[in-house]
Amino acid sequence: MTVDDIRKVCVVGAGTMGAQIAQQVALGGYPVALFSRSQHRLDTAVQSNAKLLGRRVEKGKLDAAECEAALARVTTHTDLEAAVRDADLIIESVAEDRETKRQICEQLDALAAPGAIIASNSSTMASSFFADCIAHDDRLLNVHFFNPALVMQLVEVVRGPHTSDEVVDASLEFVRRIGRTPVLVEKETYGFIANRILFIAMQEAFRLVEDGYVSMEDADLAVKNGLNWPMGPFELADLVGLDVTEDILSQGHAQTGEDRWKPTAILTGHTQRGELGRKSGKGFYEYAAK
Ligand code: CAA
Repeated sequence: MTVDDIRKVCVVGAGTMGAQIAQQVALGGYPVALFSRSQHRLDTAVQSNAKLLGRRVEKGKLDAAECEAALARVTTHTDLEAAVRDADLIIESVAEDRETKRQICEQLDALAAPGAIIASNSSTMASSFFADCIAHDDRLLNVHFFNPALVMQLVEVVRGPHTSDEVVDASLEFVRRIGRTPVLVEKETYGFIANRILFIAMQEAFRLVEDGYVSMEDADLAVKNGLNWPMGPFELADLVGLDVTEDILSQGHAQTGEDRWKPTAILTGHTQRGELGRKSGKGFYEYAAK
């Protein structure tokens, strides 16, 4: 398997990440089969991508014909077998639930072409979590995108103890071909690279506010103006989703046993009230009024 053997891609899961990953791959010129059990989710994904790319056309950042072609390269499927057929690279981006991902991996093992690369977009589960679901696990690894995937340049390619060198090399080159910047994570570690740095930094911000050293607004201002982050940690947590943020931290605590990952009360208070960030209209900040 080399990168030239990748001719068709399948993305399993059409949530926020899966939808935009599929579109980014299509912008790279690849035909993409996007799978979800829910037709509604697929329709939402297609509409949202059309809107985002349409805005680029309006701003003169994307050619109208290329926009049409990139949208047309994504086909949608509610039948996994049809979606996976002929795919040389499969990126799973289903819910961050271990059992759900294991079930998908077992299905992919049965349905995918024998040489197809199976890549997990999981933020919290290294591919070793699924290695026993895949008969030939030398083709299994993590290929981890960032949110929003149509904007963020970084993709982490994470080598598992089982992953072959050629699958790692093909994945790194594939990421370059879809216009993204890969980094190779040589060994599995919780949070990989960017999330490990990011979420521990966010924890520090949460603690500083919780302990009364600074207001949330000033903590965000400090990080934006002093460190040049595009968003402060509280704004970013609202974008990522406070439930997702809590889950990443809880998983970190459970998997490493380190207290630094333990979710703080300032975060869990919001999630317990169903305040999940931008998607629910309220998180650390309110969005409904904006
Ligand atoms: N989806 C897709 N595109 C989006 C978007 C979204 N949710 N939000 C904004 N954009 C696009 C806009 O369409 C615009 O694109 P064009 O310039 O091509 O038209 C571009 O991003 C800039 O948008 P705006 O001018 O509206 O706003 P901005 O300049 O403030 O940028 C942002 C918004 C890109 C989200 C920026 O604030 C940013 O980069 N924030 C940090 C994001 C970040 O750190 N992500 C990592 C999160 S952690 C993670 O992802 C890991 C994980 O595993 C959970």
